[in-house]
Amino acid sequence: MSHDREPWWKTGVVYQVYPRSFQDTTGDGIGDLPGVLARLDYLKDLGIDALWLSPIFPSPMADFGYDVADYCNVDPRFGTLADIDRLIAAVHERGMRLLLDFVPNHSSDQHQWFKESRSSRDNPKRDWYIWHDARPDGGVPNNWISDFGGSSWEWDAATGQYYLHAFLKEQPDLNWRNPDLRAAMMDVLRFWFDRGVDGFRIDVLWHIVKAEGFPDNPRKLDHVQRMGEMFDQLQVYNTNQPEAHEISAEMRELADGYTGDRVLIGEIYLPFEDLVKYYGTPERPEVLPFNFGLINVEWSAEAVHALIAEYDAVLPPGGWPNWVLGNHDRPRIAHRVGEAQARVAAMLLLTLRGTPTVYYGDEIGLPDVTIPPDRVMDPAELRNPGKGVGRDPVRSPMPWDASAHGGFTNGEPWLPMNPDWPTRNVAVEADQDGSMLTLHKRLLALRRAHRTLQLGDIHLKPVQGGVLAYERRLDGETLLVTLNLTAEPALYALPALSRALLSTLPDDPATDGSLRANEGVVWVLERG
Ligand code: NOJ
Repeated sequence: MSHDREPWWKTGVVYQVYPRSFQDTTGDGIGDLPGVLARLDYLKDLGIDALWLSPIFPSPMADFGYDVADYCNVDPRFGTLADIDRLIAAVHERGMRLLLDFVPNHSSDQHQWFKESRSSRDNPKRDWYIWHDARPDGGVPNNWISDFGGSSWEWDAATGQYYLHAFLKEQPDLNWRNPDLRAAMMDVLRFWFDRGVDGFRIDVLWHIVKAEGFPDNPRKLDHVQRMGEMFDQLQVYNTNQPEAHEISAEMRELADGYTGDRVLIGEIYLPFEDLVKYYGTPERPEVLPFNFGLINVEWSAEAVHALIAEYDAVLPPGGWPNWVLGNHDRPRIAHRVGEAQARVAAMLLLTLRGTPTVYYGDEIGLPDVTIPPDRVMDPAELRNPGKGVGRDPVRSPMPWDASAHGGFTNGEPWLPMNPDWPTRNVAVEADQDGSMLTLHKRLLALRRAHRTLQLGDIHLKPVQGGVLAYERRLDGETLLVTLNLTAEPALYALPALSRALLSTLPDDPATDGSLRANEGVVWVLERG
């Protein structure tokens, strides 16, 4: 069977760049687009296929770019439209792709649309946002809670109504039930597709439309306190409405009108059975919904095995999987599982069946960086201090070398660097045989060399003493991955004629299937 015609996003590896923290070229301590351009050869050499840039659009930065004030421009702190055009061209010259971040659920309150919408009740754009009268007692329209804590409703004294915001009050929710708004947002996608971007990651896609009538959400019985009060209630009526599927199908249709296999990856935090509905159907395809299973899973062979099986079981026919270890909102993998297991996790991510997304800095084993209270920037932390919801620790600047500020900036970095940056940086790790960076390069090269790792079937094996194992098979080739998820040596009963291709540890693995503590190995099963 020929696999030559598979779209690039099935075989490729995505790399998430958090532009503020990648490379500064102006000395303001904030990364920018010319900085990303300057580091493209690094990414090419690393072996990734596509870059996803977190938002680069003009923004007051109340939520660091996820509050967009103009969907069709570039924030001057990041550069200009000419810079993004140069970046798109340079990415394509190197045979890579560029994805942007589309933020359709909400804009900034500084967006011209919102300024018009809030200017009067009869402004033509009034209905582009979600306005609601107060209850007779003056109270908020319902009990919905913002994901950053507090009511989702903000009173607007000038026009005497509340507006809805799922996140900060500076991020009013757009009204996708309004056809003009919907058309304007589709035009935003066209604007960027026409400029040549290869796709989008779509922010909080499951939030995009709300239940008509705005009913109260039911309360959760087990009052789990995590991000403010959000998890005290089940988000039944403010998220995951049936109409969200119509919208994502319309986005998909628009993307399919362009050549080059443009991709839409939806950010959706839902249980798998709901999540996979965002694949759509063969007749009405939707998006590739991010699978965040590995971010939350308990780190044991049994739990990861169960997760892979569970996801596989609910994937719709033809639904292509994807895997993620971290992003700009969640603790880093090295923090969650420790430095030694992070190497095993990298092998897992890059050998599972499905498109992997690598979060910038994970390839050099960046830790979560402790942020002194006077340097906290993240609104989630500022509004819920000390609850462990702050995201600054996972957004620290990329350390490139041992020069001042790790070569990230000539100025003062907007967030502290990892304290060990003089030794944990790209230049140092590039020269070390046993480094996390070298391991990533080897894993990415192995994935590229073996179509089986990109497109092969996956067959889970029973867990043996803390070892997670699976085979990948394609066109007569069988690869076996054995991952010791424990800090103790372990034994795996290898099939005959297994030959090791790569270990997560620098020196050669044992040939009898015994794995060292925290070791993973990819084997090829040779035919006798
Ligand atoms: C999800 C983004 O990943 C997160 O960083 C942001 O705060 C919220 N959406 C609100 O836009």
